[in-house]
Amino acid sequence: MSKRVLITGASSGIGLSCLKRFHENGYIVAVTVRKDDDEKRLMQDYPGITIINVDLRDEAALQQKIEHYLRTNNGVDIIVNNAGFACIGAVEELSMAQWRQQMDTNFFAVVNICRLALPYMRQQRQGRIIQISSGIGQSVMPIFSPYATSKHALEAFSESLRYEVKPFGIDVSMIAPGPVRSSFDSNREIPTSANVSASPYQQTIEFAQAKTADVHSRESSPDAVVDKVILAATASRPKLRYSVGILGFAATLYKFIPKTILDRVLVTNDNKSDHNEKMNTTR
Ligand SMILES: NC(=O)c1ccc[n+]([C@@H]2O[C@H](COP(=O)([O-])OP(=O)(O)OC[C@H]3O[C@@H](n4cnc5c(N)ncnc54)[C@H](OP(=O)(O)O)[C@@H]3O)[C@@H](O)[C@H]2O)c1
Repeated sequence: MSKRVLITGASSGIGLSCLKRFHENGYIVAVTVRKDDDEKRLMQDYPGITIINVDLRDEAALQQKIEHYLRTNNGVDIIVNNAGFACIGAVEELSMAQWRQQMDTNFFAVVNICRLALPYMRQQRQGRIIQISSGIGQSVMPIFSPYATSKHALEAFSESLRYEVKPFGIDVSMIAPGPVRSSFDSNREIPTSANVSASPYQQTIEFAQAKTADVHSRESSPDAVVDKVILAATASRPKLRYSVGILGFAATLYKFIPKTILDRVLVTNDNKSDHNEKMNTTR
């Protein structure tokens, strides 16, 4: 019998590529989007799939719509928690609302979807939960703290959950890509150039932005991510983590780099002196 898969964030990028591949492979596919136009487009392009139109930050709507989907389909076999975005900026310059939006989308929505699906998976005595994490789930960068925090939280949650639900035949895996070609960059929430030039963190922001621009030449295709998703969905013993691309793999080595080296690499001298100057002038 065909397996049922639920994919979040299927309007573009990795989610859309997952939708295509699972659909081609004969799975019974359900996806989430949050814009009416995306719902209409996917309905036309993929007749027969289930489309759940919900903003993942709306906890009540998410709960109601996912519960409805699970009830009417009598459960789900595979979940790909993919939807997400990056909020980037200096900690003191970001509002609490921005932090909440980041955590609501990238972390709490995932927790909510898992807790709703687990009773069904437990009863079925099988299920696969596949989280789209990131290389930054195991590493950090200045100015990336909201995004890194959301993915580190996702990693800790997913690894704990893996050991908790394994006795019930449920597997939890993470896919950790480096940079991937998608709408991710255009959907990032970043400081405006006017804000950057007035910021005491200007050097650090520009340094972090230059580092991210650098890695563009090493972007993987969304299909490379989907290959790993399919592996996690079908392997008889799915691994805890699958990295994608050279930078996804490099992130797994981050924890072995001595902190004294990271202090040198991630904090520039220029930045330190500029920061002190700006802080002194504002005192
Ligand atoms: N691209 C990369 O370099 C990269 C690297 C590592 C990990 N990742 C992870 O891969 C996942 C997919 O990203 P992508 O690269 O495919 O980027 P993308 O093309 O921007 O896709 C992100 C998807 O998430 C959806 N989404 C964002 N916020 C949402 C919300 N509040 N409610 C509902 N849906 C929401 C977007 O919907 P809308 O179209 O409506 O905004 C879109 O469908 C993310 O979790 C990201 O963190 C990406």
